[in-house]
Amino acid sequence: MMFYQPSLSRGYDSLAPGELRERIRARKSLLGKRLLILGHHYQQEEVIEFADLTGDSFKLSQLAADTDAEFVVFCGVHFMAESADILTDEHVVVILPDLTAGCSMADMANIDQVEDAWDDLSRRNDATLVPITYVNSSAAVKAFCGRHDGACCTSSNARTVLEWALAGEQPSGQTGRRTARLARRKVLFLPDQHLGRNTAYGMGWPLESMAVYDPVEPGGGLSNEAVQDATMLLWKGHCSVHQLFTAAQVDEIRAADPEYKVIVHPECDWSVVQKADMAGSTEYILKTIDAAEDGTKWAVGTEVHLVQRLAERYAGVKTVRLLAGIQCLCTTMYRIDPKHLLWVLDELAEGRVVNQITVDSETRAGARIALDRMLELIGDGAAKTSPA
Ligand code: 13P
Ligand code: SF4
Repeated sequence: MMFYQPSLSRGYDSLAPGELRERIRARKSLLGKRLLILGHHYQQEEVIEFADLTGDSFKLSQLAADTDAEFVVFCGVHFMAESADILTDEHVVVILPDLTAGCSMADMANIDQVEDAWDDLSRRNDATLVPITYVNSSAAVKAFCGRHDGACCTSSNARTVLEWALAGEQPSGQTGRRTARLARRKVLFLPDQHLGRNTAYGMGWPLESMAVYDPVEPGGGLSNEAVQDATMLLWKGHCSVHQLFTAAQVDEIRAADPEYKVIVHPECDWSVVQKADMAGSTEYILKTIDAAEDGTKWAVGTEVHLVQRLAERYAGVKTVRLLAGIQCLCTTMYRIDPKHLLWVLDELAEGRVVNQITVDSETRAGARIALDRMLELIGDGAAKTSPA
């Protein structure tokens, strides 16, 4: 095998959809069991139809870890492919069909910022600080958390991980300084403030026990007193797709038709999650609507491709629509398209690997600690799906 990183050659642009489909099918059958194609729920239909297995980011990393395949083509975004590389055996080659398929939220916490924030917070804080990173983060940030006695979490297990991180601390229901100063353990939650806030609030921690650390402000924009008082220090990061959902949209849908149930991803703002009937990972959303009775109506606060898929699957049986009136598209997920998929499969068939995702051994070892801790905390690693 040769390994290199060229860019997509021009010939692929002119291929018609039918031809792309035929050629992908042919490559898949040629590569057989040597190949595993994983597809995240946000992938476009034209890609997901070729996925051997689909899931949320947690389920996909588990599936990757269990594979006997030689090549994992990850139809998702960069941090997911990195997690797969960390969790698979060394000999497994993980490929991301388009290397520019990143995650803007993961990019909001770079490792230099995290190290600076850690030094700052450690100087100004006398409790045990536990770093927890959402899986939507770089391998370097995961490695940092692993090496500092922290852990990784996903949207399907954030509560379990936070309960571990804050073990012994009780949200008393009191707000403000007194609650926080009694705390001996506190969390630096990276990089999604919303998942951190929604999860901790769901566990009973009041909003006043949380403070937002802004990495571009000196001292995170927090006074010493605010740092001391907070139990949850939430990194100022967010998902640009999920921030498009608003509490007003929930009100509008309910006013127009009270039969709608609202289900959202916990990357949405706290005000949206509070108004929704349910919140959980993409796998949780999918399973909930799959299991719902015929005739039910659902307004869904997550990426448009998953919502459209559910709407089509249940057309005439259940009503499924996007919570927002505008398209909420993850543009980076969308970069994975049939052209790129065919290209990486063509190259594999010719004995060449393009767009391999490789995490260096030192980073891998640290990130593995954070990921393994998460897996230990949720028991046998089964995708335990729970609302935030
Ligand atoms: P899930 O873990 O629910 O798949 O979410 C990943 C993600 O990026 C959502 O924006
Ligand atoms: Fe990242 Fe948001 Fe896209 Fe998920 S939907 S991959 S969090 S940008």
